[in-house]
Amino acid sequence: MLDLAIRGGTIITAADRYTAEIGVLEGRIISIAADVGKARTEIDATGLWIMPGGVDGHVHFAQPTSDGSVMADDFASGTRAAAAGGTTTVLPFAQQIKGRSLRSCVEDYRAKAIGQCYVDIALHLIVTDPTPTVLGQELPALVADGYTSFKVFMTYDDLMLDDGQMLAVFETAQREGALVMVHAEGHDAIRHMTRKLESAGRTEPYWHAEAHHRIAEREATHRAIAHAELIDVPIVIVHVSGPEPLEQIKWARARGRTVYAETCPQYIQLTADDLKGFNMDFEGAKYVCSPPPRDAASQEAIWQGLADGSFDIFSSDHAPFRMNGLQNTGKDTPRARTSFKWVPNGLPGVETRLQILFSEGVSKGRISAERFVALTSTNPAKLYGLYPRKGSITIGGDADLVLWDPAARTTIRQANLHHGADYTPYEGMEVIGVPLHTLLRGQMIASNGQVTGRLGAGEIMSREPSGLK
Ligand code: URP
Ligand code: ZN
Ligand code: ZN
Repeated sequence: MLDLAIRGGTIITAADRYTAEIGVLEGRIISIAADVGKARTEIDATGLWIMPGGVDGHVHFAQPTSDGSVMADDFASGTRAAAAGGTTTVLPFAQQIKGRSLRSCVEDYRAKAIGQCYVDIALHLIVTDPTPTVLGQELPALVADGYTSFKVFMTYDDLMLDDGQMLAVFETAQREGALVMVHAEGHDAIRHMTRKLESAGRTEPYWHAEAHHRIAEREATHRAIAHAELIDVPIVIVHVSGPEPLEQIKWARARGRTVYAETCPQYIQLTADDLKGFNMDFEGAKYVCSPPPRDAASQEAIWQGLADGSFDIFSSDHAPFRMNGLQNTGKDTPRARTSFKWVPNGLPGVETRLQILFSEGVSKGRISAERFVALTSTNPAKLYGLYPRKGSITIGGDADLVLWDPAARTTIRQANLHHGADYTPYEGMEVIGVPLHTLLRGQMIASNGQVTGRLGAGEIMSREPSGLK
């Protein structure tokens, strides 16, 4: 007998939609049929859409910082929020601290996650100090252990690599068959703009959007692509904010390069004007992230790219800071009030990612439901070596499912969210489409906005080699 039968729903995958029952045994899907037979537990999904649970390919939980700021989510609260929002797998970053062994940083970070997750996780790496030992020994061993993707930064004093270091990391990735994720913003251009704005007394949060200029993003995207071409390695350009970097990516693809593209909710739902807060006050700090949201025309370009397949994945880039953290650990600190450059960068979004894309995309007819599944679940699972166990509704795959009410309406409110941040950038947004039930390996972990899962039920997964094609 089955453990679970889900009857009456419409199954939607990245490829098709149809009506069938799903049978689950020991956490895996073992049958998809008109009638799957008897089960110990039944779910009536009549009127609901059954989609693979969300796979969020880019989140930050409990990541160390160098400026005293503290991320608002640890693994428990971050994965709890993910579950409530219909996401069943997240990929946070194990960050190397400069001067330290990458392996030891990974082990420390893993230790924070053990027994602390409501959904499954798999770790990317962040390489900040590519010493000969890191490049020659640690990274190859970590890739062999299933850490098949790593992020590099082209800006931030404490994280960035110079061009020579980036090329060296690309070379290691090429040799080991790993995928490099690139934060593409030009550091010198940002620093120059920041100094100019500060000397003109333009220090409010809004000016962050001017300092992190779209041209700096375009230039760095091109530079990353050129370096990747030199080494002949695939890369992912993460958190693309507008048409300028996307044009560079399309240019590279036309030259036969493998360049994947990610975008995020903030680039379809926010603009730089949000950083103005109320009349240029500090409220704008709520929206400070890098790259910053741009303008309405950029949003349109992102929508075009989501619809026509230019974007491969849609992630949250969940990087939560409280506005009011204890002892100046949040966004609102005396120092941050002196200049935008001290405001911690990042927004919470792991819980609202699916609802925002569904409502603005599927409900408004900009993208199909199948494309929604591809962008938010199937493609990130494939890109980061988790497919078909994750990101699919298939025999043998994990029964990670979200049962979605496509017609239900709700309003996003901080009061209803589960993350550790003390605000949501999307407060008051009306959305159509609600993740009614989230199932992790056949177990209900969230229902009607309440998390019902067990802390520790989420596993830390190892991954196959990364890459979509
Ligand atoms: O502002 C952002 N995006 N903060 C998170 C770190 C990153 O660059 O992804
Ligand atoms: Zn980044
Ligand atoms: Zn990020």
